[in-house]
Amino acid sequence: MRTDKIYLVGFMGAGKSTVARALGNRLGWRVEDVDDLIEAREHRSVPAIFASDGEAYFRRIEREVLAGLLPLRDIVVATGGGTFADPENRAALLATGAVAWLDVPVSHALARIPADGRRPLAADRGRVEQLYLHRLPSYQQAHVRIDATRPVDEVVERLLEWIGY
Ligand code: S3P
Repeated sequence: MRTDKIYLVGFMGAGKSTVARALGNRLGWRVEDVDDLIEAREHRSVPAIFASDGEAYFRRIEREVLAGLLPLRDIVVATGGGTFADPENRAALLATGAVAWLDVPVSHALARIPADGRRPLAADRGRVEQLYLHRLPSYQQAHVRIDATRPVDEVVERLLEWIGY
């Protein structure tokens, strides 16, 4: 496992973007967020992409954006909640960096996902739990599971310890 790059994976509301920024600061590494890169590339928001072109289109752009990140080193990457559920993405991430699953119970994730329409897949709260259960076997393939119900500073320390910093 390469430790000069960290991918954060996990469900919506697990804190991937927040932890990525804090971890990148501590390491002095570049930080990238897959959703932000998708929005920058498309010049529109994630919900707007889902609404006009659908999830399949979004996943295609997500794969393309990810491909651009694969060769980079000394970088922390916050993925989207669905990124690591795709078998090809999963294999690519596992082969090119250290993959940490930020795990939170679904109740916790739901409480953290604002009902602001920014997450199209969370619009139907009842479906969220189903989606979470469906994705668990994917997340479980990460190199490590981190309890992300802990405060951000603690999660960062745990990650630093894990990669030997
Ligand atoms: C998604 C999660 C979102 C975003 C998109 C789809 C998912 O990212 O990529 O709305 O499939 O779980 P976050 O996990 O950062 O919310």
